Amino acid sequence: MLVPGAGAAQGAAWNAEKVVAAFRSRFGTDPAWLVRSPGRVNLIGEHTDYNEGFVLPMAIDRAVWIALRVRNGRDVVAASLDFAEEKAFSLDGPRREGKGWWEYLKGTAWALGEAGHRLVGWEGVLAGDVPIGAGLSSSAALEMAAARAFTAVSGLPWDPVEMARLARRAENEWVGVGCGIMDPLIIGAGREGHATLIDCRSLEMRPAPLPRGTVVAVLDTSTRRELTGSAYNERRAQCEEAARALGVKALRDVTSSDLEARGRALSGAGRRRARHIVTENARTLEAAEAMRAGDARRLGRLMNESHASMRDDFEISTPALDAMVECAQSTGGCYGARMTGGGFGGCVVALVDEAPARAFLDAVGRSYHERTRLTSSLYLCRPESGVSVVRLRAE
Ligand code: GLA
Repeated sequence: MLVPGAGAAQGAAWNAEKVVAAFRSRFGTDPAWLVRSPGRVNLIGEHTDYNEGFVLPMAIDRAVWIALRVRNGRDVVAASLDFAEEKAFSLDGPRREGKGWWEYLKGTAWALGEAGHRLVGWEGVLAGDVPIGAGLSSSAALEMAAARAFTAVSGLPWDPVEMARLARRAENEWVGVGCGIMDPLIIGAGREGHATLIDCRSLEMRPAPLPRGTVVAVLDTSTRRELTGSAYNERRAQCEEAARALGVKALRDVTSSDLEARGRALSGAGRRRARHIVTENARTLEAAEAMRAGDARRLGRLMNESHASMRDDFEISTPALDAMVECAQSTGGCYGARMTGGGFGGCVVALVDEAPARAFLDAVGRSYHERTRLTSSLYLCRPESGVSVVRLRAE
């Protein structure tokens, strides 16, 4: 969440102090817990997660924060500083009431309850600096923050994989977006200084370090997508249909030669969608190898190829995303760039030389503006560890 089009990351200390101070003035006492739940950026492996394939995301140094304490009874009372709004709901039979940040809290409570967890109510204050709808997973950050808050106050064990599954269930069944496991899983299990190769079938995870001397730049086009009910669900349905037509459980099970031999079973669009998934899985595995070998050039080349595949085969890019990618790729110090996240707007991720990174951002901002007349928001992101909680005082 929670700052539409947020610019500079405000930093952990700043955000932590802000929610703690706001908690004190709202509830008249210190909070007992402080939760941090990061956003994420995906380096490569797009739309492969729900096809049981491979992804290579990292948690970033932008996060959702919640300061909270136990509340007697079965209510959750939460105030969002970014939306200047306070909401309350009961844990006894929470009901869907339209859209809004609090639905993510409710959906998470519902999913935990459905899994048999007995939850305790809480009151808290939320704030964050993950831009909304930009492809940096503000919604999964909020769901995982809520999951961490509920497990803390309810005395439940924290298992990032189980919680990621429940957050995905909240997103799929409560919010109504058919997304995969990537976002909540990396938010739960991210490792500082590393991206993580995730096998979305076995959920096996392997850390992959950023090549020495490189940084990750996030280039926000300032155009936004609306995930719910959009082409995201349509792409997912097309992939599932292609898998059925090819007689496999998921497109993860298809190789390039299978596709050549049996691709006639698919429509033109079906073939292009499947080709993106098959080639993207191969690129993602190769990208993880390149990272282990510290090979920034090879990683960058794979990122460029990934963008072309999303533009031409998966058809989820937009003129603004293409313009940003081209501006980045043609600026000195860039190893590679691609759109990141669900598509149809949001951000581009670029792998950049550390030394001229600031100059790179300035140059890309200028050339993007010249080309599109849009004002972008460009920043560097550090790979961070996943969700954390601090106990501030006993209750
Ligand atoms: C969104 C979804 C993820 C994933 C990406 C595309 O972020 O939440 O599960 O499918 O899109 O890779």
